[in-house]
Amino acid sequence: MIHRDIASIRNTISSWRADSKQVRIGLVPTMGALHEGHLSLVDEARRRCDRVVVSIFVNPTQFDSKTDLAAYPRTEAEDIALLAGADAVFIPSVEVMYPSGFSSQVQVRGLADRLEGVHRPGHFDGMATVVTKLFGISGADLAFFGEKDWQQLQIVRRLVADLDLPVGIVPCPTLREADGLALSSRNRRLSPEARAIAPRLHAIMQDCARALRAGDRADECLETARRALGTAGFTGIDYLVCADAETLAPSEPAKQEGRALRLLAAASLGSVRLIDNIVI
Ligand code: PAF
Repeated sequence: MIHRDIASIRNTISSWRADSKQVRIGLVPTMGALHEGHLSLVDEARRRCDRVVVSIFVNPTQFDSKTDLAAYPRTEAEDIALLAGADAVFIPSVEVMYPSGFSSQVQVRGLADRLEGVHRPGHFDGMATVVTKLFGISGADLAFFGEKDWQQLQIVRRLVADLDLPVGIVPCPTLREADGLALSSRNRRLSPEARAIAPRLHAIMQDCARALRAGDRADECLETARRALGTAGFTGIDYLVCADAETLAPSEPAKQEGRALRLLAAASLGSVRLIDNIVI
């Protein structure tokens, strides 16, 4: 069930395809430190596929800071115990994914340069490259991504369309704590004080989305929300924007012309950076 090299996971997947040409294979790519949000992706994959592969790989190329990479929680034994619902778990090493001489990169221009791309240079190039590799290794029919990382989801959709990759992308809703905080592996790094403030991000975003829907001026709604985040105790606000849900270009209800809009934010509590997004 655990595969640490590419030949081994490929053999298993080939044997499933040899057993039945109709088999539908689902991939849930993760970086481990699994929580209920990841498990909801596995559940959805289970519902829609005959076989489910979960990958666990803390991908170094999508971290723009060595400190952030080192601080990323690694909980492999607990993760494996939580993955009873998967048919195979792929846990490659960095050397397996990026052997000596590795030189390729997948770049999704435009989309990847906005929002997170401004604050985490190179992050989406690393993400897009590893996700493309995981699609190639698994040959999955469907791959499951959380809406929590909305920009990542749009980038993955774009690269699949641009590169004609034969995989369907299934978006899955963000899971939240009872107080509204979006589930994230990073939440476990919040101090008790920061954890008490963290749900204000979602609450303030909801107030802002309500005001935007009501037709209030977008610049004023966003400014009010930014001030509220500062007052709540957020130490840095990287962005809080109303954007086209697909292209992520800044937009607002008055200019939307029938296109879906999304409110997206990234804000820090000390060294922990939280991101969230909601529909407008
Ligand atoms: O969302 C994540 O956990 C990662 O970006 C992903 C998709 C597993 C790629 O490393």
